[in-house]
Amino acid sequence: MKGPSYNIYFEPDNLDGALACMDEHGYCVIRGIIDQELVRVLKASIDEILDPERDLPPASNRFHVTFAEYSEPIWRLAEIPAYMNYVEARTGTDELSWHRSAAILRTPGDAMGGWHTDYYPTMPVPTTADEVLNRGQAVGGGLFYLNGSHPDRSGLAVIEGSHSPDWPGPDGFEMTADRKSFHPEGDDPASWYGKMDVPGCVPLVADPGDLICFMPYTYHANMATHERRYTCGLGFRAKSFSIDAPWPLPQSAKDRIAALPDQLQRYAEGYTSIDESWSPGN
Ligand SMILES: [Fe+2]
Repeated sequence: MKGPSYNIYFEPDNLDGALACMDEHGYCVIRGIIDQELVRVLKASIDEILDPERDLPPASNRFHVTFAEYSEPIWRLAEIPAYMNYVEARTGTDELSWHRSAAILRTPGDAMGGWHTDYYPTMPVPTTADEVLNRGQAVGGGLFYLNGSHPDRSGLAVIEGSHSPDWPGPDGFEMTADRKSFHPEGDDPASWYGKMDVPGCVPLVADPGDLICFMPYTYHANMATHERRYTCGLGFRAKSFSIDAPWPLPQSAKDRIAALPDQLQRYAEGYTSIDESWSPGN
C-alpha cells in the first residue's frame, strides 16, 4: 500500500498548512506536539488507570471514556502551546470548554476495527450518550497514538476525501443506512467493513508524540495490533457550543475540576462528563 502523493505532515508552527490539508483531504499529522518524556508519563498513566493489575489478556482492549477525570498527567496537554494553538485554530476561539477525553489500551492480536465516522450524520434526536456529545464541531479526531502509527504495528487508517456528509462511499461499497459505516455491495446492509483493501485507504505512519488529526466526518479505523499500544486524548469545544447533558456530573468530574490548577480552571465550565448507560428513557 503506497502512501499519499501529497504531504500530510506539518510542524506545529504551520497550522495553516495542517488545516488546509484537513480541508482538502480530511486528515493530517502534526509532528512532535508532545515530547518523549510526556509520552512515557502518559503511557504509565494509562497502565495505572486502565490496567492496574496488568491482567489485560492478549488480543484485547480496554477503553476509558472519562480518562481525564482520573489522570492528572493528561492535563499537561492543556499547557502545551502547540496543542492548544491547534485546538484554538480548529474551534476558532480561545474560549474553550473541556469536552471529553479518552484512553485506549490494546494488546497484540487485537483485530482491526470497523471503518466508521465518529459523527452521527443522520441523528434526529440523540439515543445514546455518544450522540449527545458527538455533535457539530465538537467531534473530530485528536488522539495521541503514543506508540506512533504504522500498518506493521497498528495505529490509525483513514479514507482520504471521505470528510463530507454526501461522500458516496468507496467504489464497490455501499453506506449503511445511518452512514456510520459501509460494506461491500450486496453484504448485510447493517455490517461494518473491517479490512484495509478499501479504495482511498491511507494507513497512517506517525511517530510517538505526533498528533493525528481528522475532520468530524472522516471515516477511519484502528489497524490490527501487533504490540502493547497506548492512545489517549483530551478534547475541547468552543464554550459557546453548549451541551445540555441529560445526566448529572459524577463525583469523579467534580473532584478533577476541584483539583485543576488555577490556570486550567477556565476549561471546567461546560464540562458534562459522559454516562454511557444513559438512554432517552431513563
Ligand atoms: Fe472513531
